[in-house]
Amino acid sequence: MKIDHSLITRRRFLNTLFGGWLAAFSAGVLYAVGKFAFPTLGKEPDFVVLKAADYMNLAPNTTKLFAWGGKPGIFFRKADGTILAIKGVCTHMECNVTYKPAERKFYCACHKGWFDENGKNIKGPPPKPLEIFVHTIEGDKLIVARKGVKVELPKA
Ligand code: FES
Repeated sequence: MKIDHSLITRRRFLNTLFGGWLAAFSAGVLYAVGKFAFPTLGKEPDFVVLKAADYMNLAPNTTKLFAWGGKPGIFFRKADGTILAIKGVCTHMECNVTYKPAERKFYCACHKGWFDENGKNIKGPPPKPLEIFVHTIEGDKLIVARKGVKVELPKA
């Protein structure tokens, strides 16, 4: 079958091309302005400082959340009394994980990923363990930091 005339006019083709270019250009400009206005947006900290009293009296087998940048951190007292500070983000596709006290495991509902109480991936798609932070207490402050980060707080 031969078509005698084009289904798209030259004007329509050029308008579509220009519109697409304008949309891509606008998105690029908005992204650059957003990055300039909010430079720390989406970045994770190397450490956070919390009030120790809020976290150190957790009952065994319970958790308490803290803010790790824009992501959840989980302060966790295991059933044996050991304390862990964990990044509450799944290592598969970065969904938030929750602690299931009855199973004594962390669970990611996105794709049914499971981690044991030490953060080790044990079932489902997560490829590696949850990130475990180092926590220290200085006076009334609880410092939670990435492994290898040395934190020196200013003396008050
Ligand atoms: S994002 Fe957690 S299992 Fe996929």
